[in-house]
Amino acid sequence: MTVLIEQRRKEIDLDKLVQRDRVHRSVYTDPEIFEFEMERIWGKAWIYVGHESQVKEPGQYFTTTIARQPVVMTRHTDGKVYVLFNRCAHKGAELVGDTCGKIKEFLCCYHGWRFHLDGTLLSIPLEKGYDGSGFGREDPKSNMQRVPRFDSYRGFVFASLSKEGPDLKTWLGGVASSIDNMADRAPDGELEVTGGAFRYEHDSNWKFFVENLNDLMHPMVAHQSSSLTARIVGKKELPADKPLPSALEILSPFTESYTFFDDMGLHAFDYGHGYSGGKMSIHARYSDIPEYNARMEKAYGEERVKEIFSVNRHNTVFYPSATIKGAIQTMRVVRPIAVDKTIIESWTFRLKGAPDELLHRSILYCNLINSSANLVGPDDQEAYRRQQLGLETQGSDWITMHRDLDKDEDLGDGHTYARGSSDLAFRNQFRAWKAYMSEGGR
Ligand SMILES: [Fe+2]
Repeated sequence: MTVLIEQRRKEIDLDKLVQRDRVHRSVYTDPEIFEFEMERIWGKAWIYVGHESQVKEPGQYFTTTIARQPVVMTRHTDGKVYVLFNRCAHKGAELVGDTCGKIKEFLCCYHGWRFHLDGTLLSIPLEKGYDGSGFGREDPKSNMQRVPRFDSYRGFVFASLSKEGPDLKTWLGGVASSIDNMADRAPDGELEVTGGAFRYEHDSNWKFFVENLNDLMHPMVAHQSSSLTARIVGKKELPADKPLPSALEILSPFTESYTFFDDMGLHAFDYGHGYSGGKMSIHARYSDIPEYNARMEKAYGEERVKEIFSVNRHNTVFYPSATIKGAIQTMRVVRPIAVDKTIIESWTFRLKGAPDELLHRSILYCNLINSSANLVGPDDQEAYRRQQLGLETQGSDWITMHRDLDKDEDLGDGHTYARGSSDLAFRNQFRAWKAYMSEGGR
């Protein structure tokens, strides 16, 4: 880091930017603060890379970015998953350019250096030329470099660019149970990614998306054009004695009342994580699929299945990079590009051992709510863009987080609860934001 950049970092007064009840608009609009976030938050936290099922067989790989740096997740012939920087140790070229594929080894397109799937150097053309140069096979720097830390939890692979920090399980804390519930919904106890991802660009800061997922004051307003229309169509045009078509079943709950969303509740944890909903959420009233229930009961027994199905969380945020909806087996992943540009990926999972209807419902959900040409997501996207534009004005320097201030309920072990309309999720994310930015993390 240059002396000038270091000096500028020191001049950023975090206490002035993030207060207990409000944040300064520059955290969404200032390119220098964005660069600082890439170092301190995205360069330190566990960032979601991909799911182990994307690299089932040795040689399969999946490429993505961590804090904008290209990385590749591979399955080596030793059966293990590795996360490597996607860079040749020779002159620095990206080794694989496609999003995914299957290879025997890495082969650099520029000078033909070859690497094993765990990153170790396989061969260098005219290797003798390096004799006595101080650079060569015996030097670990001639390997593809591994990301300092990577680990997986029930198939979900995260990596950290920092050598230090809590281990993945500790970092996940109270939200690991959301991954558990998503995987436990599979009769075989495992998930697998199906197909590719919807990948689309938002002209707005990454934090707007992450904050929106547990902002329960917006659905009944922002989603009127999509969800309310679905409700009206359902009531007026369809016979009352017939079950709602799946699409309407998915769309309608977005415009439930304030009371409904308040009762869903918000749960906040250390490191900025949190979820909304618990027993009740917009996913709790989907119609039964008898064959699925039968397979679940066979696998787990009636009592355990009741327990699994009683958890109906809405969105879980693994701050800052990943969000899941366990009850519908979808995931959205955040990839910041610039202060006002973010890519959101939307993934769909299959519950292993479940009938295809479950997967069809997840795909339908993704198409209707999360895809780039869907009915609901653009409502939010429009709001983020308007926030980005509004915060460029001199109207005010501050964004409020006052709602239900000091009314949070401490449930112990870093677990805090509030009613759904509270600003708890915002305050909790910015508590972690400030801690990361000042070198800590919680
Ligand atoms: Fe929304």
